[in-house]
Amino acid sequence: MSRKSPLPLSEVYGLLEPGPVVLLATAHKGRRNVMTLSWHTMMEFEPPLVGCVVARSHYSHELLRASRVCTINLPSTRLAEAVVGCGNTGGRQIDKFAEFGLRTTAASLVESPLIDACHANLECRIADTRLAAAYDFYVLEVVAAWIDPRRRNARTLHHRGWGAFMKAGPTVQLPSRMR
Ligand SMILES: Cc1cc2nc3c(=O)[nH]c(=O)nc-3n(C[C@H](O)[C@H](O)[C@H](O)COP(=O)(O)O)c2cc1C
Repeated sequence: MSRKSPLPLSEVYGLLEPGPVVLLATAHKGRRNVMTLSWHTMMEFEPPLVGCVVARSHYSHELLRASRVCTINLPSTRLAEAVVGCGNTGGRQIDKFAEFGLRTTAASLVESPLIDACHANLECRIADTRLAAAYDFYVLEVVAAWIDPRRRNARTLHHRGWGAFMKAGPTVQLPSRMR
């Protein structure tokens, strides 16, 4: 007999929510912004394609659509406060880079900035908008990527919903043939 009880459908995303919480930075003609994002998924190895949902109500959406580029920045647990802050404030109201002390460097190929305190940064261009009208879903191609070699195993944050986050744990190496 199963001891499992029904899970409200509204809680499903907390089980399946994918990889690390990231900071999506955008810029266009002197305006710039950063938002927290966790609804993303890998779609291709190389060139890397990343699908993500950026809700149309967000200021980030406006800048992403206008510039057609963004950066995906990987924060570790030490940036937890900024991660929650950037996900609970609007860039139309405040300068989140200043508010959360996020310094930036210019990217090599796109006009959106790279966040210095993040251990990895991905420069992205919109590759496909076919699911944007229905789902605010954008396929991004990563055109350049950066990593701090001293922090390759930085502990990432993983969203469980309603303020709950997992911190990445130890890595285990298993005999898998998956690339
Ligand atoms: C942990 C976390 C994950 C989030 N993931 C997403 C996401 O995947 N897509 C999205 O559109 N909004 C997501 N949000 C909400 C936006 O970050 C939030 O609405 C933000 O204030 C938008 O900022 P903006 O209007 O300055 O662009 C998330 C928020 C948090 C706290």
